[in-house]
Amino acid sequence: ALRIAHILRNTSAFQGKDVVVQGWVRTRRDSKAGISFLEVNDGSCLTNLQVVLERDRPNLAALVERLTTGSSVEVRGTLTPSPGKRQSVELLARDILLYGWTDPARYPLQKKRHSFEFLRTIAHLRPRTNTLGAVARIRNRLSYALHTFFQEEGFFYVHTPIITTSDCEGAGDVFRVTTLNPTELEHANDESLYAQDFFHKPTFLTVSGQLQAEIYALALGKVYTFGPTFRAENSNTSRHLAEFWMVEPEMAFADLDDDLALAQRCLQYVVSDLLEHSWDDLQFFARFVEPGLLESLKAVKEQPFEVISYTEAVNLLKKSKEPFNFPAEWGSDLQSEHERYLTEKAFRRPVAVINFPRDLKPFYMRVNDDGKTVAAMDVLVPRVGEIIGGSQREERRDMLLEQMNRKGISLESYAWYLELREYGSAPHCGFGLGLERFVQFVTGLGNIREVIPFPRTPGHADF
Ligand code: 4AD
Ligand code: MG
Repeated sequence: ALRIAHILRNTSAFQGKDVVVQGWVRTRRDSKAGISFLEVNDGSCLTNLQVVLERDRPNLAALVERLTTGSSVEVRGTLTPSPGKRQSVELLARDILLYGWTDPARYPLQKKRHSFEFLRTIAHLRPRTNTLGAVARIRNRLSYALHTFFQEEGFFYVHTPIITTSDCEGAGDVFRVTTLNPTELEHANDESLYAQDFFHKPTFLTVSGQLQAEIYALALGKVYTFGPTFRAENSNTSRHLAEFWMVEPEMAFADLDDDLALAQRCLQYVVSDLLEHSWDDLQFFARFVEPGLLESLKAVKEQPFEVISYTEAVNLLKKSKEPFNFPAEWGSDLQSEHERYLTEKAFRRPVAVINFPRDLKPFYMRVNDDGKTVAAMDVLVPRVGEIIGGSQREERRDMLLEQMNRKGISLESYAWYLELREYGSAPHCGFGLGLERFVQFVTGLGNIREVIPFPRTPGHADF
């Protein structure tokens, strides 16, 4: 069988030819003239293929009634120019095979628009909707473009572990991994407890592959990791998941300016790629979800992002006279309302905020000469806020030791991380780009639960 996307990209080649397509019936309309029209979608693209059925054909007559919304079919026929305005071609059916019939009275996906909340309860069927289908194709293209970008820039893909003993971000939002049963966990004291545990020590699902990526950057020069990461943040927001995907490049002999330039090239490359290869899906989101979408994507492609220091950002927010719920103050994290002000009102494009206060950021970031700030960068985009967090890493052993002591990081557990600074240490930097936040940005979808096939949030781990 042919994919509908392939047929529609090559209509002149298939005109008048016999083709076979397989997919799911979206709708059926029976006209009085003895003709029925099916809209068939096979997931390869947003567009349905119109199938025309002559009901008096003996092999079709009995079947037509059973071609209900949601049913899976194989259609054989001739591709012909369509007299209709909505499509250039249609498939004149000669034969139809019904694979799986759907009871229209019970099928949860009715012809109306369903709420995203409802669709989440039927995650086994929601990829058959236009929105979730388009999201899945965009996630695919985005992942492919990210790999292509880093490969073309000479980065090696490194597979960092999922189970780990380190808590890179030091925020304590980790999921424990243990083979002990709850009673054992309750009754054993620490040492005897871990003696029975699989790894003989506390282990977690990774919150970031960065620390291991640093090891490989200090051996291969430029690497990236791209995988799932886990955070037990108990925050029920539209931008947080307990399981999300992150791409994390790390490069040696490079500083914060190189990091900013890499992030800039990465965003431009990937957005240009999407504008070229996912145009139909993006247009769908521009039409039904976020009217300003295409303009904001083109702006990313054409303009470099604004770079300002944290201190400048705080001053700007203070001067803005916006009625923030939390007034900006030097030493406090930027709130999402602050991020939105910077990207939507002050600059109207992506903004990279750099040099954050040392006490706001994790232990591994390089301390600046002022002793108060670190060489951090957060890239913020309109509507979504932070999509990239990165930094130059502390490559000086003594300064790293000071940072670890200051933040109560175990010197024993991270001895290897310190030792990396003793043998051929070098300036290096990297960042993490959250795939789901990026998908939110390029689709305009407001809730992060809609941009991942099976969202994990507090209380939700179904499917
Ligand atoms: O800013 P974060 O926490 O940075 C790190 O983890 C660094 N170790 C990355 C590095 O330098 N290699 O996370 C990076 C990005 C955020 O900017 C955001 O896009 C995404 O990961 N992110 C989340 N996405 C969804 N749900 C969550 N709970 C997220 N937490 C972070
Ligand atoms: Mg961050």
